[in-house]
Amino acid sequence: MASEKVYRASTTAPVNIAVVKYWGKRDTKLNLPTNSSLSVTLSQADLRTLTTASCSASYPEGDSLLLNGEPSDVSGARPQACFRELRARRAALEAADPSLPKLSTMPLRIVSENNFPTAAGLASSAAGFAAFVRAIANLYELPASPAELSLIARQGSGSACRSLFGGYVAWRMGSAADGSDSMADQVAEASHWPEMRALILVASAAKKGVSSTSGMQQTVATSGLFQERIKSVVPRNMEIMEKAIAERDFERFAEVTMRDSNSFHATCADTYPPIFYMNDVSRAAIRAVEAINAAAGRTVAAYTFDAGPNAVIYYLEKDTEAVVGSLYSVLSHVDGWKSGAVEGLKANVSFDESV
Ligand code: DP6
Repeated sequence: MASEKVYRASTTAPVNIAVVKYWGKRDTKLNLPTNSSLSVTLSQADLRTLTTASCSASYPEGDSLLLNGEPSDVSGARPQACFRELRARRAALEAADPSLPKLSTMPLRIVSENNFPTAAGLASSAAGFAAFVRAIANLYELPASPAELSLIARQGSGSACRSLFGGYVAWRMGSAADGSDSMADQVAEASHWPEMRALILVASAAKKGVSSTSGMQQTVATSGLFQERIKSVVPRNMEIMEKAIAERDFERFAEVTMRDSNSFHATCADTYPPIFYMNDVSRAAIRAVEAINAAAGRTVAAYTFDAGPNAVIYYLEKDTEAVVGSLYSVLSHVDGWKSGAVEGLKANVSFDESV
């Protein structure tokens, strides 16, 4: 029977790690940020979310999501916003061409799997919502560009808008009240600077104490330092970072990456009550990077930390030996590492040509 037909589409989306951080919302409903941000998209061979979206008139009523094998709630405002936006676009296509099947009226089933541990504290919501939005857009055969999909994914999770592109990606905060200009664009393709590498140091696989969403709201509400960050620190960092990428200037890329991470964690410490995402192992990783740079006589490695204790270290391929080899030997003297609190260094991550 035609009504039992199941329509299906799959896609994958990569993880991205910000070098100029998004931290703060000016509109929580539309998920609009207080500042622009910039990230590097990691290789899908190492870290990715695989999502299949299907719909059928024969499915029981209501949309559903299976995340790493577990049923997950989709009644929240964020997934609902994504469903609403995607259905509206499909409904417009169906209205224009009555011969199209009425997919927009059918219940949706989303099945999503990460090839990395969700608890590793990596920005799984970024790859997750990017794949979620693109899988449904593919299912609905929407003629949407990555930029347009980034507008929708942003409403699922801010950082997700940057995972619709490969390479070096900016999320422009925009100024429109309806959020129509708050989306991502590609600053440079991965092939522009293919020597870039990232290494992930899992300092703790425990789930983070304060979620990004609530942490950033507490920071916006209580930190004085945060005002300085959004008014002058981030705009300056964005400018220098874009130039450093254009010129493939690793020393500047590295300095801004480390300064921006430090600035973000300083606003967390200035939040009242304070939020601490880094632990002793994280701080040891910072000191290890400083020691490696001092020994090399130039900046060969840069650390950055998101809303958790795990470090991402950026470096260039030619410096692999100096960076990776030294990190192992320096960190082997750190208590947490020895006692097993440090899980280990993940393999090098290279960068995708395209997403
Ligand atoms: C520290 O994108 O997870 O990783 O929009 O509330 O879902 P929501 O927040 P989210 O925040 C990510 C914060 C960050 C910095 C970054 O990725 O830019």
